Order: sequence, then C-alpha cells, then structure tokens
Amino acid sequence: HGTSRINEQGHLEIGGVDAVKLGKEFGTPLYVYDVALIRQRARGFKETFEKHNIKAQVAYASKAFSTVAMVQVVDQEGLSLDVVSGGELYTALAANFPKERIHFHGNNKSRAELEMAIKEDIGCIVVDNFYEIALLQELTEQYRKTMPVLLRLTPGIEAHTHDYILTGQEDSKFGFDLQNGQADEAIKAVMETSGINLLGIHCHIGSQIFETTGFVMATQKLFSKMKEWKETIGYVPEVLNLGGGFGIRYTEEDQPIPVSEYVEVIIEEVKKQSAQLDVPIPEIWIEPGRSLVGDAGTTLYSVGSRKHVPNIREYVAIDGGMNDNIRPALYQAKYEAALANRMNDVKDELVSIAGKCCESGDMLMWDLSLPTARPGDILAMFCTGAYGYSMASQYNRLPKPAVVFVEDGDAQLVVQRETYEDIIKNDLKYNVALKK
Ligand code: LLP
Repeated sequence: HGTSRINEQGHLEIGGVDAVKLGKEFGTPLYVYDVALIRQRARGFKETFEKHNIKAQVAYASKAFSTVAMVQVVDQEGLSLDVVSGGELYTALAANFPKERIHFHGNNKSRAELEMAIKEDIGCIVVDNFYEIALLQELTEQYRKTMPVLLRLTPGIEAHTHDYILTGQEDSKFGFDLQNGQADEAIKAVMETSGINLLGIHCHIGSQIFETTGFVMATQKLFSKMKEWKETIGYVPEVLNLGGGFGIRYTEEDQPIPVSEYVEVIIEEVKKQSAQLDVPIPEIWIEPGRSLVGDAGTTLYSVGSRKHVPNIREYVAIDGGMNDNIRPALYQAKYEAALANRMNDVKDELVSIAGKCCESGDMLMWDLSLPTARPGDILAMFCTGAYGYSMASQYNRLPKPAVVFVEDGDAQLVVQRETYEDIIKNDLKYNVALKK
C-alpha cells in the first residue's frame, strides 16, 4: 500500500527508498514514515469536504504521532492541529505551526498549560469540565483576552472498539454529559463568562471505529440538543466537532471503510438534521489521528535470537518491543509483518515475534508466517505509524528509536536515535553528604 513495493533485489521499498538500506544507514529499530501517504490521506479528508462545499476544519490529532517534522507536514497540507498537552503545544509552536489553527484538548489541563494557550493566542480550547471553565474565567481576566472554546460533550454512545479506548459512553472521564443536564449547565456557565467565546460543541465517540453508525447517532443526539438550545436559550453553535476515531486496516481481520465515506455520511446526516430541525448547518470539524498516520508508518527491526519450544512455538526475537510499540501488550493489538530483505522468499515457518524487554508479555506478534528468519534479517512491521512512537518508553532503559521520513526517493532523519547519555541526562547523583 502507499508507495511501498518490492524492488529488483526482492527488498521492501518505501517512498522510493530501500528499507534494508534504511536499516543499515540509520540502524534499527527504526520508525519509517511514507510522507506521500500522509499527504494523500490529508488531502482525502479535505477534498471530501470541499466537494460538498461544506465549511470544515480537519485537525490532525497529534497524540497519534507528534514531532516537529510531522507538525510541519500537517501545516504544509493546510490541516489544523489538535494538541492535548503543554508538550504537544510546545512541539507545534517549535514547528511554527499557525497558532490560530491549534485546538487544545484534555480532561485536566493545568493552569500552566491553559496560561500557555492563552498567552500564545491559539485557535481554541476544547473545554472539558467545570473546573476548567473557572480557571479560564480567571486567566482570561488576568490576561485581558477572549478565548474561543468548544465544549466537549459526552453523548452516551458506545462505539464498536476496544474497551480501553472508549470515550463516548456515559461512564467516561471526559466531557459534559448530554443526558443529565451537565451540558446545558456548562453552556449557560460559558455564555455568562465574558472572557470565553463559545464557538461550538465537540464530541469524540471512540477510536479505531469501523462503522458510520456511531457518528450518525452522535450527530442526531447533538442536533436534537441544538434545537433545544436554540429554542430555550437562543444558542446556536457555529462549529460542530465530531472528533476522530476512523478505523484503519492493521490485519486482514480489519475491514475499514474508506475515510471519505465516513465524511460523506457525516455531511449527509448534518444536512438532513439541519433541514429537519431547522438548525443552521454548522462548520464541521473532525480530528483524525490514526487514519492520517497509522498505515504510513513501518517499524524496521533486526532479527536476533530465537527459542524453539518443541511442539509448541518458535520464538524469534527482535531488537525492539513493547518499549517502541506498547499496543500489542496494552490492547492485544494485531499487526502484519514481513522480512524486508527477503520479500520474495517462501514463507516456510510460523513464528511468534518476541521483544527484548524483560517480561513475558513483551510479544509483538503471534503466529506470523515468515521465511525462516535468520539473525540480521530485517523485520518490517506494518501500520505502526499511530500510537507507536508517541507511546514509546525507555523501559529497561532502552533508548528510543530514530524516526525517518521517506518521500520521492529521499530519506531524512527527523528524530535522532536516543543515546545512553540521553537516558541518564536528567539523573542526578544522590549526595549523602548533603542530607540534613
Ligand atoms: N479526538 C479526541 C478527543 C481523541 O481523544 C482522540 C483519540 C482523537 C481525536 C483521535 O482518534 P483517532 O482518529 O486516532 O482514533 N492509544 C490508543 C488510541 C487512543 C485514542 C485516544 N483518543 C491506541 O493506540 O489505539
């Protein structure tokens, strides 16, 4: 998929660059991003809205993969940017991302984080709770500024996905509940706060969603509320943000629909509701993370040791693991992989791919069909572009891998590999002599 193909040497090639060469030049483990594919996905979202002549913003949910270079690509493609922490905001600012297109999310933004957002005049804050409304009131007064906001609402919808990443259902730590009057109370509170300009409403119903039903239901629920607000308090949102969550294909078990289809369905439902309920069509904002970068990322590992457990299993170990991709251990996430240096070889064994971390749960893939893997082979694990690097840790004091962008035959290092010095750079010696 994307710009990937098998070249004359039988090697995997991504973005016109031989993956085996990438492994040699930059070392492994290595995250490789197919930039052309990211651009293609970004344009896909934007063009669908343009086709329907709908005012929209597509905000990349940078939690999926945030680095300065990634933020630059997002800017080049004219998308907006969703950040969820001071760190992601700092990354965006360091990449000179247009501040007015930055949206700030989170269920417990600190005073310092909100202060940073207000000082930098970012596009909007997605307000999650009453404590945050109070903080914003205080800070906008202090800085004599007006902050545009969306209110995050919880429509009580369960999207078909893994339990850990459900956020739209009623029992959720996020947002104001639509059902029990919290949302109405929040809207009133915000309308009474002079430093806050209520742009609109937001909801996010989950992640890795394969059906459009959840988005349709959320749209319906929000519209019936919008009608109510219009009639009771005269409030009409300018913006309706429906969040992200569009699923991608990790393995053949996954059957996602094309992203344009989600967008089509959303637009259709918004138009329908708007006509039926006599509520003006708002700007539609969405926040895709995974579907913009997931399948653009490939992780390259070097094969090392193996262990044969007679009649049970063949373990093949690689030089990374749960420290660079926590998703298999955390969500039992499934992936596909191949030997990048032997793409045309017959797949003659079934192996399970073990990480190098010191715990049994550090397995990346079970029962994978591969050509008999030998030490030094390059294992390419596909679709690791979302929530891989961004959730990486230094567990076992393993330095974080490097990130390389490939496009049109060029490869550029965009995140350096961590060194052992990096690992201890914040460590301080414990000086017993200074103890009081
Ligand atoms: N907007 C909001 C408010 C979100 O909470 C999220 C993801 C997104 C947008 C982007 O969702 P996406 O399009 O990427 O599905 N670590 C998990 C995923 C957690 C998603 C959290 N929120 C994983 O690795 O599957």
